[in-house]
Amino acid sequence: MINEVISRITIGTEKRRSQFQKGFKSFSKLHGLKGWEGWFSPYDDEIYKKVLKNIKKEDVVLDIGAGDLRLSLQIAMRVKMVYAIEVNPKVLGSALKIIGFDLPRNLVAICANAMDISFPKEITIAVLLMRHCQHFMDYVIKLRSTNCKNLITNIRWKTGVESINLTVNGENFSQFKNGWYACKCGAIGFFSYDNNIIEQNFPIHEVENCPHCGI
Ligand SMILES: C[S@@+](CC[C@H](N)C(=O)[O-])C[C@H]1O[C@@H](n2cnc3c(N)ncnc32)[C@H](O)[C@@H]1O
Repeated sequence: MINEVISRITIGTEKRRSQFQKGFKSFSKLHGLKGWEGWFSPYDDEIYKKVLKNIKKEDVVLDIGAGDLRLSLQIAMRVKMVYAIEVNPKVLGSALKIIGFDLPRNLVAICANAMDISFPKEITIAVLLMRHCQHFMDYVIKLRSTNCKNLITNIRWKTGVESINLTVNGENFSQFKNGWYACKCGAIGFFSYDNNIIEQNFPIHEVENCPHCGI
């Protein structure tokens, strides 16, 4: 049944791209959404598959920037509870209208700016599919104040989806000598303290306090 609901939602995708509608600029300004951060554009099934594979049935999931709920609905079929937060009332409202009475009991849809509200303490995993997000570090800080253990996101590597363990601290950048890094602020890069050292197999170092933090 949920697949049929998702098909119904998918038909109206173009109408939901409200970034091209009158008033969107001031709506973005009101919510402090920068660049393309507030643009609604759903990802594809390949990306969703990668997310779903990282979720277990006992998880309580927070989907941040949930768009028209097409992923949240799929998550809800697999887990205990999903909280889906979407700032754009046109995107979420039209999706809810289509879903109607088929809205699963374990899917709580919240129309709000995720920066403004407290996250439920009981969440165990968060999903943040928002390639143009400008507030990655803020979300990491907020999630770390809950029970959330992992963050599944495409923000740092853009085309790739990763699961970040939020319970362990990354290496301190000041101790980091050489190689690829990915920071909790959202930055990625290559750093070499000594140009003669080049790592052979390019592991990615999870770091905190990189030179981009706070910029
Ligand atoms: C690129 S779309 C992806 C939608 C959905 N995650 C998907 O995969 O179909 C990003 C969504 O995040 C929402 N968004 C951006 N900033 C937000 C915020 N601060 N709070 C809640 N939603 C936000 C946008 O309105 C948009 O619908």
